[in-house]
Amino acid sequence: MPAWADSGHAPARDVVGGKIAGSGKFPWAVRLSMGCGGALTAPRVVLTAGHCVGPTGPNDKITVTAGAPDLDSRSAIAVKSVEVYRSPDFVTETSGDDWAVVRLEKELPLPILPLTPDDTDEGTFTVMGWGQTRESARQQERRLHYATVPTIPDEECAAAYRKAGVELVRDESICAGRRGVDTCQGDSGGPMVRRDRLGRWVQVGIVSWGLGCARDGYFGVYTQIAKFRDDIRAAAGRLG
Ligand code: ARG
Repeated sequence: MPAWADSGHAPARDVVGGKIAGSGKFPWAVRLSMGCGGALTAPRVVLTAGHCVGPTGPNDKITVTAGAPDLDSRSAIAVKSVEVYRSPDFVTETSGDDWAVVRLEKELPLPILPLTPDDTDEGTFTVMGWGQTRESARQQERRLHYATVPTIPDEECAAAYRKAGVELVRDESICAGRRGVDTCQGDSGGPMVRRDRLGRWVQVGIVSWGLGCARDGYFGVYTQIAKFRDDIRAAAGRLG
């Protein structure tokens, strides 16, 4: 989070206002060792936020924990990264282009999460992560939490953040949240998903940033997958 996010505003409430995910519910959700989330977008590639990783290039510093919503579970699998590709246009989380793909040392025997095939950017979506359950929490969670959040019109979201001195990159972002329900620190990089007509999950967003967590009038900001679908596919294909 940028420094301005921690200054002065209204007290935070319970985040994610979420529930604990049972095993097998989100089998493609993964935890990254720097304290972010991600999703398996190919058997050997994780999609996460650009601000979670370093620059494009070889990288064996990230450990990815997959295959279990409880990170301490015996069915959790840990694998190392071998390479990172970060959006070449990434600068900082609030300036858009907040996505990256990470190549793993080996394929994981788990389902993958497809990118949304269409441009749907409105609705009620599911978000998840092992991050803080309150803005003031000092710890991350051992178990995966999830919540459903409605999208907020770009104008409303942009107006709120303009007051806080940040210009929302509207065509690259989805804002979402409701009273007391939001993602929070440590959830970054994790997937925002919806079900398609056949009931399968597809990824519509990536947890990116927000002012604090679940503050009234402010919403979580998510990288809009539809805007980057072709670039993400190409990058994952190269690493896959
Ligand atoms: N940037 C944060 C992270 O690194 C994610 C923040 C999401 N915040 C929010 N209020 N929705 O984990």
